[in-house]
Amino acid sequence: MCNEKIHDLEQNELVGQRAVLTAFRPEHIKRYHRWMQNPTLKKDTGSEDLKTDTIEDIADYQRQIVNDENNKTFIILDTASREMVGDINLFISECDGTRAAEINVMIAEVSARRKGYAREAVKLAMEHLHKTHFIDRFVARISDMNFASTCLFRDRLGFLFESHSQIFSESTWYYDIKREDGALAPD
Ligand SMILES: CC(C)(COP(=O)(O)OP(=O)(O)OC[C@H]1O[C@@H](n2cnc3c(N)ncnc32)[C@H](O)[C@@H]1OP(=O)(O)O)[C@@H](O)C(=O)NCCC(=O)NCCS
Repeated sequence: MCNEKIHDLEQNELVGQRAVLTAFRPEHIKRYHRWMQNPTLKKDTGSEDLKTDTIEDIADYQRQIVNDENNKTFIILDTASREMVGDINLFISECDGTRAAEINVMIAEVSARRKGYAREAVKLAMEHLHKTHFIDRFVARISDMNFASTCLFRDRLGFLFESHSQIFSESTWYYDIKREDGALAPD
């Protein structure tokens, strides 16, 4: 019963003022393939190991995530035009009985950056997973070099510092929805 409810909700789009989160469907593959030819984007999103050379590689990836219960990937569209601008990926894991979702967001179209898409997409996705999958903890692992993403999660979404890895040159940031200082950062 509970699983059916989750499934139903994920058939629907999550609609915000600027951004719509929609399921990654076959019609998105071609543009996604173009995005994944950009080595900087692959590096910034930690996707270096993903095979993305051909359209078929991306089609395999799309089929794989659709069938992965722990990987929630949405394509981000502009609310007004429904143009694809990026994607958001949440990977659910469990440690010591606590479930957490690691967030990776990408606004691939450079002309769409700094317009609030990422911030709204992260908030929509967190609220959705909190309601449907009862997840209270969200995590972002951000490279030391990724200033934009650090500002997004730390300054505009209220994530707190958890730890730094010298080996990977990255920091882990977290957000507990039930923490005492309130809900997600206001608009
Ligand atoms: C990081 C990224 C997702 C931000 O997307 P975006 O839609 O441009 O971000 P938003 O417009 O929602 O910006 C929200 C806040 O993030 C911060 N930010 C975003 N881009 C920034 C930049 N270039 N420099 C400094 N701060 C930046 C700002 O605090 C901004 O708030 P403000 O515009 O009110 O100052 C985008 O630059 C991107 O896709 N980069 C490549 C992939 C990547 O690094 N993903 C993160 C993996 S976790």
